[in-house]
This record gives sequence, structure tokens and C-alpha cells, in this order.
Amino acid sequence: MRMHPLVPSLLLLCTLSFTAACSSGPGQPSGSAGAASARPGPSPVRGVDPSKIKGLEIVSDSSENKSCPFATSYPDVPGAEAMTAAMKKYVDRRLAAFRSDSAICQDGTGDADSGELNISHQFLVASGDVLGVRLTTQDPSSAGSGLSATTYWYDGRAGAYRTALGLVADGSRDAFLSAVKDRLKGREGVDAAALDDTFSDPASRAAALDDMAFTVDGGLRVAFDRGDVAVPAAGAVTVTLPKEKVTPWLSAFGKRAQRQTVTPSRSLDLGATHVPTQAVPTHTASGDDDTDCKKAKCVALTFDDGPAAPETATLLTYLARYKARATFFTVGQNVAAHPGLVRAAARAGNEIGNHSWNHPDLTKLARGQVVSQLNRTSAAIEAATGQAPTLFRPPYGAVDRRVRAATRLSPVLWDVDTEDWKYRDADKVARTVIAEVRRNDVVLMHDIHPTSVAAVPQILRTLTARGYRFVTVSHLRATL
Ligand code: NI
Repeated sequence: MRMHPLVPSLLLLCTLSFTAACSSGPGQPSGSAGAASARPGPSPVRGVDPSKIKGLEIVSDSSENKSCPFATSYPDVPGAEAMTAAMKKYVDRRLAAFRSDSAICQDGTGDADSGELNISHQFLVASGDVLGVRLTTQDPSSAGSGLSATTYWYDGRAGAYRTALGLVADGSRDAFLSAVKDRLKGREGVDAAALDDTFSDPASRAAALDDMAFTVDGGLRVAFDRGDVAVPAAGAVTVTLPKEKVTPWLSAFGKRAQRQTVTPSRSLDLGATHVPTQAVPTHTASGDDDTDCKKAKCVALTFDDGPAAPETATLLTYLARYKARATFFTVGQNVAAHPGLVRAAARAGNEIGNHSWNHPDLTKLARGQVVSQLNRTSAAIEAATGQAPTLFRPPYGAVDRRVRAATRLSPVLWDVDTEDWKYRDADKVARTVIAEVRRNDVVLMHDIHPTSVAAVPQILRTLTARGYRFVTVSHLRATL
């Protein structure tokens, strides 16, 4: 699909000229209030560096279409297959429901502004024989604020997946629940009778108490989604039981999870029988690219949503074979997991751009959240490559004056949209690019999909034969 030709040209013009008409001044309102302010934002977790988790893969799926906006991710850690399966089941169910509800995802007839599904992940503990992950879901079509969080736990010693309530010993469950209830009663918006009902039914209790994690000083923080235990107007509610109080009630696994949170070990060992080795290519660019796009036939291939292992590594090998350079619009949570791949891409002469931390529609966020999404990702890129990015690609191509005013990064859209995320067919990806590309175009693909990576050799071979040169977006802009 070819975008309206004016859009990228206008953006290019704006970023080159910095005219007042293109960027709004500092007096802009700092973001919309209401539901947007409750959306998931990046929140750093002390002590967890996902790049140290051997064999980690981030399972990502996303669209790049404003009319069907979704982005999901969860980690796949070797050894924790049962926990991965639980997260996969949850994500698959939410995604299937979103895609079937959203008419535009099906046939393009739905409401283009019906809201997005976003599921992001955060490591809580990855230490010793304990893995803890929180999945945060933003789904405006669901009840409450549309924001919910669930923690998943894996006990490497027992080889078992645990829910949040698994942190508490069976024999102490009643004492624990009544302590949580006592702390909730009297809070604004909490109805004591409704709370008793929620806690006495095993299913509703498990659903409400599905987000529990230790604080750095060993307390247990129990978080309830908006509307779970209080009226929606009260927002999300949290209760923290101090270490001395909660420790006697913890299960054996809960005690280890507490210990690994407070004083993490150097590494994670879940007793995996097989840990995939993740190769990182070592290609090095031979100096600067001297292609003059005023004379040569240039094209800027761009790959979004990664890096992903092993797909990005494979792609780097293909690019090196044709001495082609590309631009990677990386997602921060994936950069954190695979900084080595980002470093390898940069070393080979590719450009690294910013595609936000967890792929939300930036136009729906408050200004502070936009800044956080972009700054945190730029910091991860700089930590990996030694160089901060200068470009960003807004998820879904959704960008407005407010987003542009929140960052010094220059937005990049695209000329050729392969829609590769939709049909996952290598041959079709290649045919689309080859048929639609024109001189100096920016082409959108996604290196999280093996089918898109598999299309690249055919694209490089055919376009090379037609005289194209593969340059980065910044190179294209600088030489035009
Ligand atoms: Ni994307």
C-alpha cells in the first residue's frame, strides 16, 4: 500500500526547515487528562537487566496500522516454558478478541479511532531460581480504565509456574487475606460487603489478587486494577504488607522470591535443559557511505519493532552480503533485551532509530508519557551503541503537533507500506517492495517476522540489479 505522497514529504520538509508551522512551541498543553493519564508507562525495575538472561527471546506482535492498532510482547525464558505458555495463552486470547471485535482489523470498515490493545512486559525478578514478570494490558474496550496488570512467577527449583497467590503458603492464606482486607477497608471507594464477596469466591479472589510483587525492602505489594476492589473513580488501589508482617505467611517459593528481590544473585538459573545460543554478527562498515542520492538511485529500507533474536541477526547477515545499509526503528523493551544486536547493527553501518519503549499510540498519551517513551528508548540505544538516535518513527505512524513538540527527534514515516505484519508471506513481501518502490523511497518492514527477513535477499538481489543503492534514512535526507 502506497501512502499519500504528501505525508512523508511534508514531514521531511518540516524536519529539515524547522518552521513554526510544522512544530509547535513550548506553550503547548502538556497532554490530555483522563484515561490517557492512566495508561501504562515505562517504570524501571531496579536490579533486572534482561540482557543478562541467557537465551531470552521477546515474543512480539504488532500492527503498524492506525486503524487496527495493537502491540503485544512477553518474554520467553529458557526453562520457564510453563510460565511462557500461561502468558502466551493470555496474550493470544486478548489479541484474538481485539482483532475479532475490531471490524477494521478484519475488513477495513471499523472505526479508525476505536483505541488500541497494548500488552507490555516488565521483569520483576530474574535471579537465582526465581523469575517474575508483570504483563500490563491497555485495552480501552474492556471494563474499568482498560488498564490491568498481572504478575507471573516461575519457581526453577520446583520446575513450576506460580500465580501471584502462590507466593503465599496455603495454610496462611486466610490470615494473609484478612490482613489485606483490613488494609483495604476504610479506603475511599471501597465497599466492605462487596470486598467480602470478592475475597470469599475463589475465582474472583484469584482474579483480583493477580498482581503481587516484593518491594526492594522485602514488603509484599498487592495491586488491584481500577474497579477490582473499589469504585472505578478511586482508581487503582495498592496495599503493601511490610516484611516483618508478611514473611511468616509466605510459601517456600515466596520466601525465595522475596530474597531474590532484596538481594539478587548474579545470574538466573531455572535448570533449562536447552538454552539457545544467540549469534551476534560481527560485520563492520568500511567507513562512511559516500553514495550521492542526487545522482544514484537510492532506497531506504526500514525495519521496525525489533531487535528480535534470531531474526535481526539473520537480517544483518543478508544486508552485509549486499553491502546494504538499513534503518532499524527499535522498541526500547527489545533493545534492553538484545543490546548486542543493536550494537552489531550500528557497527555494520546501519542507522538505529527510536520506535518508543512499548509501542503505544503516542498521540493518545500525556506529554510526560511521550517524553518518557522516547527518552527511555533513546537512553537504551545510546547505552548499546554509544550514540543517541536522531530519528523516531511513531508507532502506527501516529504523530501530531503535540508529539512533535515533545521531542527533538525527527519523525520518519514511509512511502511504501508492505503490510508484512498482516499476511506473513515472504514472497508477497518481496513482490510488494519490488513492485512499489520508487527512487528515494522509504520502505516499511518489520524484522520481528521471519517471513519479512526471508524476503530481504530477493529484494536486495532484484533492486541491486536495477541499480538501487541501499542507504540509511539520515543519509537519504542529508544527500537529497
Ligand atoms: Ni511498529
